[in-house]
Amino acid sequence: MTKLSIERLSKSFGSESIIDNLSLHVNEAEFVSILGPSGSGKSTLFHLIGGLYPPEKGEIYLDEQRITGKRGAISYMPQSSSLLPWRTILDNVLLGAEIAGKRDMETARGMLNKAGLGGYEAAYPSQLSGGMKQRASFIRSLLSPQSLICLDEPFSALDEFTRLEMQKWLLSIWEHYKRSILFVTHNIEEALFLSDRIIVLSNKPAHVQREFTIPFTRPREESLMLTQEFLEWKKTIYNELREFS
Ligand SMILES: Nc1ncnc2c1ncn2[C@@H]1O[C@H](COP(=O)(O)OP(=O)(O)OP(=O)(O)O)[C@@H](O)[C@H]1O
Ligand SMILES: [Mg+2]
Repeated sequence: MTKLSIERLSKSFGSESIIDNLSLHVNEAEFVSILGPSGSGKSTLFHLIGGLYPPEKGEIYLDEQRITGKRGAISYMPQSSSLLPWRTILDNVLLGAEIAGKRDMETARGMLNKAGLGGYEAAYPSQLSGGMKQRASFIRSLLSPQSLICLDEPFSALDEFTRLEMQKWLLSIWEHYKRSILFVTHNIEEALFLSDRIIVLSNKPAHVQREFTIPFTRPREESLMLTQEFLEWKKTIYNELREFS
């Protein structure tokens, strides 16, 4: 079943066309990554899905309901940490649920524990490392009632090792909760390791250049990244991206 459907979307800022005639979809419980050059309009696309501003043309549907220009329909984790500095970690992860009137402390505590954040419920964001803040932000997305989660480069500020740990953690959680995810990244390996499908965007103005269905079975192990098949895929996608640089 289709969860999200984006149809012929266009957006300009002033006279500059940023997104042009872009169409894509995400299926129920599917993990889709978007890869594209810096400045190609990926965050703008997320802002449009989140209804922060309307597109000039095109429509966005979630569960077949039109959400073009509407806020609050999706759970959005922005490029930089968006934890509120004056709220504790527990109160931060409960924010989305609270707005929807569904504050469930038990589940929140359980998920914080699973994310290695047990004992930090009463701490403030400034007391956490970058990786811990990203995990808390992600838990907040999972606890929000929206069924589509949009993640904009959630791991880009982390070192390689922490990043890999976070990817494995995200997969283990996602394989359990199976929400629909749209994930923006610059990192080909990350996209391959996590996704069911990868969408490559063109340079600005962005449209879908190419789409790849990733055949690796789940659950996925770290060792997958050392296989010949993985390396072949990496080359294929690298070559696709190189055409635009
Ligand atoms: N509110 C805005 N007003 C004017 N121009 C904007 C605005 N937001 C984004 N842009 C422009 O739109 C283009 C795309 O920006 P966007 O942030 O969507 O790129 P991106 O693909 O997310 O890049 P990155 O990979 O570096 O995060 C850029 O040229 C940027 O300057
Ligand atoms: Mg961006």
